[in-house]
Order: sequence, then structure tokens, then C-alpha cells
Amino acid sequence: MKTLKFRDNSSIPALGLGTWKSSPEVVKRAILDAIEMGYRHIDCAAIYQNEDVIGEAFKEAFDRGLVKREDLFVTSKLWNDSHKASDVRPALKKTLKDLQLDYLDLYLIHWPVAFQPGVGFPESPDQFASLEEIPLEETWAEMEAAKADGLAKHIGVSNFSIPKLKTVMAAAKEVPEMNQVEGHPLLQQNELFNFCTDNGILITAYSPLGSTDRSAAMKAEDEPNMFELPKIKEIAAAHEVSPAQVLLAWHVNRGNTVIPKSTNKDRQAQNLAAANIALTDQEMDEIASLDRHFRYVNGKFFENPQKGYVNIYDD
Ligand code: A2P
Repeated sequence: MKTLKFRDNSSIPALGLGTWKSSPEVVKRAILDAIEMGYRHIDCAAIYQNEDVIGEAFKEAFDRGLVKREDLFVTSKLWNDSHKASDVRPALKKTLKDLQLDYLDLYLIHWPVAFQPGVGFPESPDQFASLEEIPLEETWAEMEAAKADGLAKHIGVSNFSIPKLKTVMAAAKEVPEMNQVEGHPLLQQNELFNFCTDNGILITAYSPLGSTDRSAAMKAEDEPNMFELPKIKEIAAAHEVSPAQVLLAWHVNRGNTVIPKSTNKDRQAQNLAAANIALTDQEMDEIASLDRHFRYVNGKFFENPQKGYVNIYDD
């Protein structure tokens, strides 16, 4: 498996397993299958509401000797209701307890959006907190402290625009090591990708397959199906692989990490194998031409002008 290097020269496997939308009923089996077939990078988050079950799978994997803790790369994310300085470490410790781990390999601020304590998804504007009330710099300072305490080996952010990264970087002792954002051929984010690369920030792409298993409330009508894009199908046929594998290989060839979600053993295996598909320069150029700046996860659910959240991906 190809790896990417953090600034301290330690590495992260280029392809990992996503767990957003993996239900607690099936995720334990899915994690064990994935580890058994060779996945060494698992992406989690407190808000996915399955970390306790994933923790059972990790424990079983370590007990059965399927993998050693130091050979597994585990990411989790701070939810939006725990941005206050005093709430960051308790949230991280809850995640560690659920995952049955002593440390995370990577901890991310999940969104540049703050909520009142205890709010999962806000039902009214007053359940948000503005970034004046809880500045991102305050949250970031606690992330740095958590890293210094050894609770996370690496720290970063998710869903951060260039202006938000600049805000954090201006006050930071340490620049974020990762920005996890939506990424696929229809949303290539070249400007953000280049900014991050220039500043030593790695990128992880989420929703690389279009996250078709999102709830209906999170879907727009007439969303494009990336598996049906003629160019992707053509490249897949040339390599005798599936369109999904081409979509994943694109990231690994481009130089970012990618976290496809699957709870199906066959598709997990297919996705893992995609990390070894070498695309030609011409194929990479052809895929580059597909960019439409299209988001599957459009972020509208967090817009709240009353609290200063207008266009969360660009502001
Ligand atoms: P499943 O979990 O049943 O395999 P994303 O990673 O963009 O969030 O997409 C996840 C969705 O894509 C899930 O519905 C998942 O279903 C499906 N999926 C994962 N791998 C593949 C694949 N290789 N081919 C087709 N669909 C896939």
C-alpha cells in the first residue's frame, strides 16, 4: 500500500476504510473483515455514532493478533458541540474510550462550525455558536495540547476552506497536518489541494464514490452518478477494473488519501485493490477535465446567517 508522509516523516496509508453511514449492526463485522484483508487505515468520527462498536472490533482484532496497534492508523473527529477549550479533551477521551484505544493516530476538527454543548444536529439557529463566541483558534490550541499530551499523534481539520485554514494557521503553534474534504473527479478542489500541498498539509478525500447511501434529506435531485461517467467507464474497461476502482485510484495517483466506505466484504476488497492501479498521465489528464465543482455533501444543513455561517465551504 502506498503511504503519504506527514511533516514529521511518519506515514498514513493512502487508502483507508470510511465508517460514516456504517450502521452499528454491521460495522463490527465490516471492520474485522477489512483488517483481515489488509486495511490499515480506518476513518471514524464521534458523530457517526458507531465508535463503541468499532472499538469492540479493534479489541477483537488486537486480541486475535490480526494486527498490532502500532500498525493500524486510526482517525477520529471532534464534533461541533465540543469546540470550547474545556470540551475538547473530554470529547477526545470519550472517543478513545469508545474505540478502546490509548491514542489516536489523527484527530480532526470535524467542521468549522460550532454548536452549543450537547447538540448533535441543530434544530434551531440558537443551537449554533458563532465563531466569535468560540473561535477556531481556541479549539485548535486545545488540539495542539492534546497532541502534546500524547492523545493524538497527528492533528488536523476537516471541511476547512483556505480562509479558515489561514485563520487557524495565523494563531497556531503547529499548522494542521491534514484537511479532510469531499473529493472526487467532479469536485477536484485544485486550489485547496495546492494551498495545502504548499503548506505541508495532507488531504484526505471523503465521499469518493458519491456517498449514495446518504439519507434522502441530504440528497439533491438529479445527482450525477459517477459510476456512469463515460470517461470513467472507458478507463475502467481499459484496466479491466470497475468504475469505482478508477474513482479511487485517481486519488492515490494524484497524491492524497482516500476513505471509501463499504460494509460489504467484496466491495471492500475491490476498493483496497484500487490503491495499486497505476493510471497513465493521459488518463489523469482526462479525469482532470471532468471537474464540475459539484458537491454531494453540500453543507446547506449548517448554513445559519444569524450566527455567521453563510457559505461554510468558501468563507
Ligand atoms: P456498501 O457499503 O454496501 O458497499 P462513499 O465512500 O462515497 O461514502 O460511498 C459509499 C457508498 O458506495 C455505499 O453505498 C457503499 O455501499 C458503496 N460502495 C462502496 N464501494 C463500492 C464499490 N466498489 N462499488 C459500488 N459501490 C460501492
